[in-house]
Amino acid sequence: MKIVLFGPPGVGKGTYASSLKTIYNLAHISTGDLFRENIKHQTELGKKAKAFIDAGKLVPDEITISMLKYRISADDTKKGFMLDGFPRTIPQAEALDTLIDVDAVLSFEAAEQTILKRVEGRRICRKCGMIYHTKNKPPLEEGVCDTCGGEVYQREDERRDVFEMRIKAYNEQTRPLIGYYDKKNILYRIDANTDMNNPEFHVIDDCRKILDKYLRNYNRDSTNVEEIKDKK
Ligand code: AP5
Ligand code: MG
Repeated sequence: MKIVLFGPPGVGKGTYASSLKTIYNLAHISTGDLFRENIKHQTELGKKAKAFIDAGKLVPDEITISMLKYRISADDTKKGFMLDGFPRTIPQAEALDTLIDVDAVLSFEAAEQTILKRVEGRRICRKCGMIYHTKNKPPLEEGVCDTCGGEVYQREDERRDVFEMRIKAYNEQTRPLIGYYDKKNILYRIDANTDMNNPEFHVIDDCRKILDKYLRNYNRDSTNVEEIKDKK
């Protein structure tokens, strides 16, 4: 099963991915995380991407597409994977179509004010990438990751002015993908307004209603894995 987690910055793609990863045992591929890893290790790719990310702009397609191509050829993708933050432009979506058949695109939607509050309170672990929130999901000990003990910090692209640029880039370059996938009949809109510590929280259940259906089809057709390999 190959799915795309889609939505504006801060809507919760990474958070929902970590739940879905456990439920479905799918590899989680976040292009944002891949760039941050490269920046941390000061690779050539990281050096090229940093200026764009720090300015809230998208990294150019050719850099992003070749990084993604390489990542989806790794062994852990054989049972399927979730793309988080890719594609973000029409050329990226077209490139993806030449590599794999996407089963479903989950499009998370939430009000801009909700998103802003989520982003302002977000903290992440420098070591394992676990996502926290100062109010909604604080670590047990301030500044320390519950899972690996790593340092919990605020992302550099979280500044209000940079975030506004990221929203602008989303509206101009990424939002058109909703129409692109809707035409293919694989777009599912998911209301992500409810906070996860609200008893009414239903985002993961809503994802499961959609994905369970694909998983059943996927398991029935055991040739799928070979097909993916051939297409890569
Ligand atoms: P990336 O890291 O992908 O950032 P993003 O898309 O802007 O998304 P975020 O990671 O900010 O938000 P999210 O939706 O994952 O939310 P999260 O789960 O953290 O990309 C960073 C940069 O890399 C881009 O700006 C660009 O420059 C570059 N880049 C990446 N991919 C690219 C591509 N394909 N092409 C070109 N450039 C690319 O949640 C946010 C917070 O809210 C957390 O604190 C969480 O705890 C909380 N939260 C989430 N959901 C809920 C909920 N339901 N209730 C309560 N709290 C919640
Ligand atoms: Mg994310």
